[in-house]
Amino acid sequence: ALQALWALGLGYLLGSIPFGYLITRTAGLGDIRGMGSGNIGATNVLRTGKRHLAALTLLLDALKATLAVVLASHLFGAQAGLLAGFTAFIGHLFPVWLGFKGGKGVATYIGVLLGIAPATVLVFALVWLTVAKLSRYSSLSALVATLVIPVALWIMGQPQMSLVLAVMTVISWWRHKANIERLISRTESRIGEKKQAE
Ligand code: G3P
Repeated sequence: ALQALWALGLGYLLGSIPFGYLITRTAGLGDIRGMGSGNIGATNVLRTGKRHLAALTLLLDALKATLAVVLASHLFGAQAGLLAGFTAFIGHLFPVWLGFKGGKGVATYIGVLLGIAPATVLVFALVWLTVAKLSRYSSLSALVATLVIPVALWIMGQPQMSLVLAVMTVISWWRHKANIERLISRTESRIGEKKQAE
């Protein structure tokens, strides 16, 4: 129980580091939360026009979760790794440092996959890239990819991972509420567009 608590705290602390916010702020671009969609994720950092900063945000937001999984599973075992990955995801969405208003968890979701079942990152990437190629919507690509992953994990014979990732999918979908509304009203901004509909 104490080990679970350590894994939980470690995951949350790593996950709650808001790299998109820190990177854009450090680059002198101001507060990302006042730009584009207002989100702190890589997609919104891309709207500043700084592709390398967006790539860095994606990488670090993913790797913080991978690190949480790897550290916790090394210290306390695979179960704790999965728990730390989950709490890293929660930390990214609800960081205490930003008044619990964080991101939508797509990069962090990928980072958890990289830590627990690396092959599924390829599945995620394939689905994301296919939907992005067809639609040019980052949000839609993530929504579809996060639907596929719990199914893929189930098929791979990982019911526990599947269940935890399914919970993460539900939470991420809920955080994409405004995106879903914009997709339905056809006002969602496409990849490469800097403007974001209100
Ligand atoms: O990864 C987050 C993406 O799905 C949506 O981001 O900035 O368009 O709300 P954003």
